[in-house]
Amino acid sequence: MSGSAQARPSNRVLPHELPASLHDAGLANWIREPLDDAVDRRRRIIMPPAAATMGTPASAHRGALLAEARHSDTIFMMGDNPALPTMPQRPTLQDFFELRFSTIARTHLLQSARVAKENGLGEKVITACLLHDIAIAGLLSANHGYWGAQMVAPYVDEEVRWAIEKHEALRYFADESVGYTYPDAYIDYFGPDYNPPDYIRREYQAARQNRWYMTSRLITINDIYSFDPDVVVDFGVFEDVIGRNFRQPAEGLGFDGSPVAHMWRTMIWPNNFL
Ligand SMILES: [Fe+2]
Ligand SMILES: [Fe+2]
Repeated sequence: MSGSAQARPSNRVLPHELPASLHDAGLANWIREPLDDAVDRRRRIIMPPAAATMGTPASAHRGALLAEARHSDTIFMMGDNPALPTMPQRPTLQDFFELRFSTIARTHLLQSARVAKENGLGEKVITACLLHDIAIAGLLSANHGYWGAQMVAPYVDEEVRWAIEKHEALRYFADESVGYTYPDAYIDYFGPDYNPPDYIRREYQAARQNRWYMTSRLITINDIYSFDPDVVVDFGVFEDVIGRNFRQPAEGLGFDGSPVAHMWRTMIWPNNFL
C-alpha cells in the first residue's frame, strides 16, 4: 500500500502480517495492534530494554523489531501506553504505588511497613520499609537496593536512603542477636549452594560498623513477615508518616528537575523507545 496513516486519517490501515521470524520468537507480545480505530490506527512496537532481554533469545530480534517499525502503519511506543493507567500530571508517591507498582511488590511493601508500625518502630524505619523494594516494584530487580536508594535520595532523610541501599547486602547475612536468620525462601530462590559475591560481603561488613546498621537490619527483619497474599493494607494508613518523611515535590515525581527525575519518568512511560 502507498501513503501513510497520517496522510489519510479517515482510512483504517490494515495491519500487515507479522513476519514469521518475530512470531516464532514470541515477539508478538511486544507489538500492539491498533485498539480503537477512532483513537489510534497505528500499530505500536515496544522495544524491550536491553537489560530485560540480554542473555535471552529476544535479544537477537532487536533488529527485526527496528525493521518492523519502518512500516507506514507502525510506530514505536512513545508516551502513554494505553495498556497502563494514565498518570496524573504531577504524580505523587501514592500514584506510583497505585498506578504503576506490581501488585505483589506493592502488597509486600505495604505489609512490611505495617509490621514495622505494629511493632512500634520509628517513622524512619516505617518509611524505609515502605520504600525498600520500590525498584523491584517499578524499575529493575538487579541491584534493587541501590536503585531504590537513589530513587528516593532527594526526598528522604539520609538515614532512610542509607538503610534502603544496605538492605541489599544485609539480607544475605544472619544476625541471630536480633533474630534474623537466612531466609528459607532464598534457599529455594538461589539454591542451597549460593554464595553472595565479594562486593556484597564487603558491603555487609562495612554496614555492620555503621551507626545506622539497625535501621537497615530492621528492613530485613520485617521483610520476611510481609508476604501474606491475604493481607490487604491501604496506602492511606501511611499518609501521615509519608507526609512527614517524604518530601513530595510540588511539580510531581519525574518533573522536579532532580538528579533522579528520569527514574520516575521511566516508570510513568516505561515503554518509550528512547
Ligand atoms: Fe529487597
Ligand atoms: Fe522486601
